[in-house]
Amino acid sequence: MDYDAIILGAGGAGLLAAALAGQAGGRVLVLDHADKPGKKILISGGGRCNFTNTGTEPDCFLSENPHFAKSALSRYTQWDFLALVEAHRISWHEKTLGQLFCDGSARQIVAMLLDECAKGGVEIRLSTEIGEIGHADGLFGVAGKTAPQLVIATGGPSIPKMGATGIAYDIARRFGLDVVTPRPALVPLTLGEGDRAFRDISGVSCPVTARVGGTTFAEAALFTHRGLSGPAILQVSSYWSPGDAVVLNVAPGALDALREARRKMPRAHLKAALSELLPKRLAEVLSDRIGLAQELGNTSDAELARVSEGLTALTFHPTGTEGYAKAEVTAGGISTEALSSSTMEARNVPGLYAIGEAVDVTGWLGGYNFQWAWSSAAAAAGAI
Ligand code: FDA
Repeated sequence: MDYDAIILGAGGAGLLAAALAGQAGGRVLVLDHADKPGKKILISGGGRCNFTNTGTEPDCFLSENPHFAKSALSRYTQWDFLALVEAHRISWHEKTLGQLFCDGSARQIVAMLLDECAKGGVEIRLSTEIGEIGHADGLFGVAGKTAPQLVIATGGPSIPKMGATGIAYDIARRFGLDVVTPRPALVPLTLGEGDRAFRDISGVSCPVTARVGGTTFAEAALFTHRGLSGPAILQVSSYWSPGDAVVLNVAPGALDALREARRKMPRAHLKAALSELLPKRLAEVLSDRIGLAQELGNTSDAELARVSEGLTALTFHPTGTEGYAKAEVTAGGISTEALSSSTMEARNVPGLYAIGEAVDVTGWLGGYNFQWAWSSAAAAAGAI
């Protein structure tokens, strides 16, 4: 055999797994078809990489098995990764909601991971196609090299123009592992012609509580020429299925504010009252949609309650998502049923591991997906 482990994919998960396994004494080869390692890290967090979240908890992840991520997340935590960042003297800040970003550039995170790989004597081969994978006599064979352990760390198909592919699922199926149907997540939602007025106020954003089913997120929503985006929408998109309604509360406390407006400006119309609560263009669209002909002073409590409902339960029926081209992550993936939650090793294929976004574990927006990449990588590296 040529190596102790071959790792497929030089993204966040693959690089950290390689570094830790190499530093523990393993001979490790990383293969990637890209011409640079860590391309998604480089574009993440607007170029500053939101590398973890201080509030990381298993509840912040979607999976068919919500318990699966617990073991890995508890053994390599956000604080472990932060300690590594600090050991490399990378300065960082908390932006909002526990989200930690580099002060400087995401390039520092890639440089840190490559430095850790170098310390572990890891060999990284870029611009290399994976091709057929052999498996005989306990050895995996890839690109002319063999090893008793193979780690799938090729992520998911979101942002294909960056070289993202679904090869992880092909490899998993080739070895008999189930795949939970992948779907775009953390992705903008599209609206149809019936909501044309909202598409026409593209660029307007406002704080909302967004709800899909029983899941809510309080962050900003953004109206776009295709539909809805912004952090609140990206968050609920991971929970959205075709046919589901997305319900926005754009004005918490609307009823009290409307009563106050009726008292203070009885001659005014709804548009004027809404302009006090919301961005002007949104106020115009909503007052047209809600429709209230009379002056506020002539409006009954029941009518005000109807208007309030139009603001606190503004309901959309998205026509779809903007797809993998715009999805920050892929939900679904290699079934956790097939893997050990403590080592990420396939239960029925000794030596085969899957980590990172390739697996059916998907985090919220805000550094959670990288934390899953780090935690699952460390779990596998500990077993290699
Ligand atoms: P990742 O996709 O990073 O790496 C997979 C590697 O496999 C790549 O290097 C790829 O080239 C290689 N590969 C794929 N197919 C291959 C093939 N057929 N042959 C050979 N190699 C192949 N998350 C977060 O926590 N904070 C953030 O700030 C952001 N920001 C962000 C912005 C944008 C625009 C996107 C698209 C995504 C994010 N994310 C994020 C999500 C985060 O980037 C993602 O979850 C992790 O990069 C997943 O890490 P992996 O190592 O699992 O896969």
